[in-house]
Amino acid sequence: MEGPDRTWESPDYEPSLPVSEKSNPLTRDIDQASAIGIVRMLQACDGQMFEEDTAVKYQRLLSKQVVQTLVEVAKRVELILKDPQDSLVVLSGCGTSGRIAFLVASRFSRRLKDVNQSSVYSYIIAGGDRALLSSQEAPEDDAKLGRLMLKEACEGKKRVVFIGVSCGLSAPFVAGQLDFCLRHPEVFTPVLVGFNPAHQARDEPIEGCTFTFRSVVQRMLELAQSQRAFIISPAVGPEAISGSSRMKGGSATKILLEVILSTAQAAAFSRAPLTETVTLQYLLAYKNAVDVTYSRTEQISTLVEAAGKSLRCGGRVCYLGWGTLAVLGLIDASECNPTFGADYEDIRGFIAGGYVELDNNEGPLTSLGPDFSISHEEFFRSVLPSLTDRDTVLLLYTHSDDLGEVAALARRVRERTSSLHAIYHRGGGDNAATDRQEVIDNLCSSALKISWPSPQTRISVHMQWELSTKLLLNAISTGGHVLKGKVYRNHMVDVQVTNSKLYRRAARLLQKLSGHPKSRCEEALLKAIYQSEQLTSAIPLSDVRAHTVAANHRSRVVPLALILLLTNCSLKEAESRLEQQPIIREVVVVCLS
Ligand code: F6P
Repeated sequence: MEGPDRTWESPDYEPSLPVSEKSNPLTRDIDQASAIGIVRMLQACDGQMFEEDTAVKYQRLLSKQVVQTLVEVAKRVELILKDPQDSLVVLSGCGTSGRIAFLVASRFSRRLKDVNQSSVYSYIIAGGDRALLSSQEAPEDDAKLGRLMLKEACEGKKRVVFIGVSCGLSAPFVAGQLDFCLRHPEVFTPVLVGFNPAHQARDEPIEGCTFTFRSVVQRMLELAQSQRAFIISPAVGPEAISGSSRMKGGSATKILLEVILSTAQAAAFSRAPLTETVTLQYLLAYKNAVDVTYSRTEQISTLVEAAGKSLRCGGRVCYLGWGTLAVLGLIDASECNPTFGADYEDIRGFIAGGYVELDNNEGPLTSLGPDFSISHEEFFRSVLPSLTDRDTVLLLYTHSDDLGEVAALARRVRERTSSLHAIYHRGGGDNAATDRQEVIDNLCSSALKISWPSPQTRISVHMQWELSTKLLLNAISTGGHVLKGKVYRNHMVDVQVTNSKLYRRAARLLQKLSGHPKSRCEEALLKAIYQSEQLTSAIPLSDVRAHTVAANHRSRVVPLALILLLTNCSLKEAESRLEQQPIIREVVVVCLS
């Protein structure tokens, strides 16, 4: 049998890029693949998360050193759980990293409540709670904001374990928080979670700061020797869509945070030993969840096909879920705008119980606009009446949800669209098909039902279901957009350019695809951002922040810039080309040929 493809690990493979930004050789042709081909590529790509390390090149998820650090961090959390007075465990990040921080902090707070323990977990997401449901990329660049939000969350606390997540070891928001922790070692134990080796941390100057992400990491590495700071940064391989850290980055973040908190909680309240062996067993339980999920390749491809069909013909994809599976639906939907330039209506999530069930810090956000309406009632009110066969609806639930309610909802949706599908998780002993489940099955055109054996470890089976659902939804939304032509090779060509990381990524992509020098590519990008045939001195080339602010109000800037570079035409002509051929991939292919 062939071994895994480890091309990306070679020192010659895209040497200037950190792992999280490299393009994955496994998905180079994803834009030309069929639905099942896409799913197989994603399977291979996700499988890289659990590959073993070879020699010393990269630490991996299952590496001994990573497992050891997880145990040490869990011990710090255990201490806080046993003596919660004036103490806190803070999980923080930007974009998906912050959303996963929210999901994990909420789950474990609920668990503490269930056993009458005081809550010690708190989350921070750059841009506040609105970023849970929509893309807020600019705050990611704001180190000062990160520090202020952390300071506020920890007011009066005497002991804090701070876990900052930045998949690319790159977000200034998180760097600002870690720097703050390092300046107050009497209170804070800083922990960094990400998926690049420490020496690949971003070294770009941060506005208003004397530190870079890399210099913060270097300070942490020094303290790590005496266990006063911790860095957990295994490589999980390049993302299936280059730089899309919502995928493997988000999954691995969920795994690491849950392993730390699960083992700490088991040690604090059930006297379960906190050892490397136990920690490794937890990690392997997640590997099993990935394997179980991808054993349904055919069924997943049916869902990808349905999503692709809807998106291609201007239809919508709606996730209607219950509990934390619905939260994963909301998260997945929120990521499609920055990744694929999608409209908020293209893929939307809804949760039974709305904001009461979401239980976020800031409460209901409905007043922020229609894209913040998330309850099933809102779905009935604002989406159902206009639903047609062009739209796809996906139900997300488990055997512990109210199947009567699921069936009732399925009935109403089925009256409007035949593209109704279900993802359903159930526990091992529960194989009996209830009448209600049969009703749902009959209403759906496909139902992906996964029966899970009871886990060997103390890991909650719900956390496996969640990871499984995350993989499925990532496959559906990514695959759907690939089929819609939103990806060229394995690059997001219609990415938003709304923070410095995305701006740099866009400029690099333009260089790669056009072969023109950096300065010419940036010029084209700026022409597209400022809608200007001629750049004037009023637009200072080096002010990336101003460019990302301006890009906030523009769409399709990267495709426009690419056409400018490839055809040497005017901005007007480039715009008209895009009007005539809205399938971005086709435009790129034509221009390149
Ligand atoms: O800037 C956008 C984004 O790439 C999101 O898609 C991602 O979730 C977020 O940044 C956070 O990135 P990181 O975890 O690498 O800091």
